[in-house]
Amino acid sequence: MASRLYALPEFYDIAFSWDLSEEIGFFKRSFKEHVPFPVRRILEPACGTGRFLRTLPADGFRITGYDINPTILRYAEDSLAAARCEGSVRTLLANMVSADIPGEFDAAFISINSIGHLHSDEDIVSHLKATGLSLREGGIYIVHLNFAHEGGLPAGDCWTMERDGVSVKTWWRILSEDMESRLSHQVGSFEVRRDGKVERFDDRHTLRLWLSSDLQDLVHRSGQFEIAAIYGEEFEELNDTEHLSGELGNVYVILQKLDVANLPIP
Ligand SMILES: C[S@@+](CC[C@H](N)C(=O)[O-])C[C@H]1O[C@@H](n2cnc3c(N)ncnc32)[C@H](O)[C@@H]1O
Repeated sequence: MASRLYALPEFYDIAFSWDLSEEIGFFKRSFKEHVPFPVRRILEPACGTGRFLRTLPADGFRITGYDINPTILRYAEDSLAAARCEGSVRTLLANMVSADIPGEFDAAFISINSIGHLHSDEDIVSHLKATGLSLREGGIYIVHLNFAHEGGLPAGDCWTMERDGVSVKTWWRILSEDMESRLSHQVGSFEVRRDGKVERFDDRHTLRLWLSSDLQDLVHRSGQFEIAAIYGEEFEELNDTEHLSGELGNVYVILQKLDVANLPIP
């Protein structure tokens, strides 16, 4: 089930309005290190309110973002118009499961565990296939996700962001992780302060619970990618890519598009 907080894009956009420059710097280093040609055209599945769509054109990229939620997408389009970067950005209403996005992209990325909205193995494989088909051979798909915890669950996060006199305090916590169904049950809330009033919005949602063995298996089943590298929260390369757990926080998995036409016949 989608988060109810996605129905409040103006508050979502404030809650997640932290500076993206370090993350974008990491994307640019990954493009240089892993892609054998210059990266210009980027695809962002599940683009949300357009945080990255508004930022990446300043670095000369052309970017296409898509999302399944028309309310969020409309917010993204309005904010792109206000930021005057529509020329380098295209937005589409589409579902990650089947999104067949025209145009050959050099790279793609999906941020803050948005891929977790795909729960079943079949949906994930279908998404990886569709994304692979949109990419040039040698291009990369940077997938930002987190794995099941090995010890206890973390206490949860709480932070406050403010813009134009509107303050949004956000809480996020994992309630339970179910290894059998591979689902992570989570709660989130926004407390919004504006014009001297306080409103609170609460939500429960469910995301895919990732195990590193499932990641290896589903990437292999997609037939489109191989895992080129995995980086931690501080953008450091992780050496032990077989043994990944939630204690690492959100990690960046670099999937490289295979030369599908020249794969050996099994
Ligand atoms: C956590 S938000 C992140 C948005 C954006 N990536 C960001 O970093 O701000 C997850 C997004 O995934 C979108 N989403 C969920 N399921 C989807 C699907 N099946 N296809 C496309 N987008 C989806 C939601 O509408 C929401 O905008």
